[in-house]
Amino acid sequence: MSFITRRDGTLHFEQVPLSEIAARFGTPTYVYSRAALTAAYQAYAAACTGRRARVQYAMKANSNLAVLQLFASLGAGFDLVSGGELQRVIAAGGDPRKCVFSGVGKSAEEMRLALTHDVMCFNVESIPELHRLNDVAAGCGRRARVSLRVNPDVDAKTHPYISTGLKGNKFGVAFDDVLETYRTAASLPHLDITGIDCHIGSQITEVSPYLDAIDKVLEVVEALEAEGIMLQHIDVGGGLGITYDDETPPDITVFATTLLDHIAARGHGHREVLFEPGRSLVGNAGVLLTRVEFLKPGAAKNFCIVDAAMNDLARPAMYEAYHGITPVVERRDTPATVWDVVGPVCESGDWLGRDRMLAVREGDLLAILSAGAYGFVMSSNYNTRPRAAEIMVDGSTMHEVRARERVADLFAGERLLTL
Ligand code: LLP
Repeated sequence: MSFITRRDGTLHFEQVPLSEIAARFGTPTYVYSRAALTAAYQAYAAACTGRRARVQYAMKANSNLAVLQLFASLGAGFDLVSGGELQRVIAAGGDPRKCVFSGVGKSAEEMRLALTHDVMCFNVESIPELHRLNDVAAGCGRRARVSLRVNPDVDAKTHPYISTGLKGNKFGVAFDDVLETYRTAASLPHLDITGIDCHIGSQITEVSPYLDAIDKVLEVVEALEAEGIMLQHIDVGGGLGITYDDETPPDITVFATTLLDHIAARGHGHREVLFEPGRSLVGNAGVLLTRVEFLKPGAAKNFCIVDAAMNDLARPAMYEAYHGITPVVERRDTPATVWDVVGPVCESGDWLGRDRMLAVREGDLLAILSAGAYGFVMSSNYNTRPRAAEIMVDGSTMHEVRARERVADLFAGERLLTL
């Protein structure tokens, strides 16, 4: 079900015309739909019902407190990758004991914070990390629950920048070293081994790489069991893709059910399964609203210069990612022309969409679609541009869940020299 509809020529998110949001809060502005977020979560929850399975929302995709609060209220745990993300979970009313802590470079301070808040599990990626975690746990008089992130060396068939489960990636413990690494973990007195995890990449639109990865993970689980190292949970990571353009990822419930059935069929149905979705929960629940500043037709290219830029939405510049772009209010008085939609930042790489057929005029509003994941969270202040406002639509109500930054905020921490 789509929560974005066009009514009387105007794009709506749930019951709210996007033009009303722009009028009230300005542009550029991220807009999220509570109903769309909820529906995506429920699609995972439907597959988990009656099974030992649950969702750890990979909050790096969108860590606005209201988004976290909503998922926490629906029962989600979180996959976090920094002390800062843990503090966001706490500020949003989430339960740290339902969190897994991922990431290749956890600092001792971050480990201490996570131990103090009793996070459910550390997803560990190397032997030095095991030693550091053991030392930190000893120092706080606690034991740390650990899972090892296995690099299963499978091809997720996605963009190389967001593929993480191949040998050449920095992530996870190399498949051939996994058993030895578990033995090291088992020998450390302040660690309790509780699980195993993997994450093979992002924007994956097929199920088969997951099944390949799970088979390799289960191979490890069985070998460990033969040595008396028992695991309670299997974390299959995130990575399920969404439709940006013409991709056809599997339906969330079908996807999650297929994975759970596969694990059960291999005789591991008694173990708890964790999903770590990010993009598939939030990606299509958000848009970036922007206004056309100038039209600049040219001999080689026509440029539609908008007030959002690569600092607001980095994905096109970083990954040549495609985002649908559509006028908020349909125009019939202007012929559609091919435009490159670009921002005001002083970089040629500052583009949001290329060769888009649009009927636009100066001052019009455009919606950049599928911007709920890795949108605001990857934004920066490059060119001293305040970061966008974030609005959550709920039925016919709009909530400002993050105020637009002010320029003064941007250099508040800077100090002049005494010259
Ligand atoms: N778990 C781990 C350990 C991860 O590293 C990630 C994402 C996820 C779960 C969630 O993956 P998702 O379900 O969202 O695909 N900035 C890039 C995507 C980077 C993904 C990083 N890791 C983009 O904009 O496409």
